[in-house]
Amino acid sequence: MELDLYHLIYTSIIDADVNPSCVGDIIRTSRVKNRLDEITGVLVFDGWRFCQYIEGEREAVRSLAQIICEDVRHTQFTVLHEGPLDSGRMFADWSMAYALSQDDELLPGLSSLRGLAAVHRLHGLLPSLDMEP
Ligand SMILES: Cc1cc2nc3c(=O)[nH]c(=O)nc-3n(C[C@H](O)[C@H](O)[C@H](O)COP(=O)(O)O)c2cc1C
Repeated sequence: MELDLYHLIYTSIIDADVNPSCVGDIIRTSRVKNRLDEITGVLVFDGWRFCQYIEGEREAVRSLAQIICEDVRHTQFTVLHEGPLDSGRMFADWSMAYALSQDDELLPGLSSLRGLAAVHRLHGLLPSLDMEP
């Protein structure tokens, strides 16, 4: 069992001046860097809104969240939940899984949740999404 695991989930909105094709670059960079930093998680994008869940060692997660928060490719970065992860990693095998959501209602619904309810909702949605590990 890993010690001092931490997790964080947020939503944000792609910047109006940014082409959605940038998401491919984000995923490629994330997979390389996250593997080095032992971060795992998932990014869901619906063409407008992002929801990302990241987990790993506490300081690694917090500093990555700070970097992501400052990324000009998105705005309205809103943390829905962060805190210790007592039950082990949920995405142990995924340096950054990616899912494109076709449902415009899905991420707005999730972004209204706070706390672990947001994490559980995201996890519950994954089987219905087209995931790319
Ligand atoms: C929605 C979104 C999600 C991102 N997720 C990650 C991630 O999981 N890991 C990561 O390293 N960078 C992620 N990035 C990119 C970082 O903001 C940053 O550009 C990248 O880490 C490269 O940073 P560097 O050039 O300072 O090394 C994400 C960016 C956006 C807009």
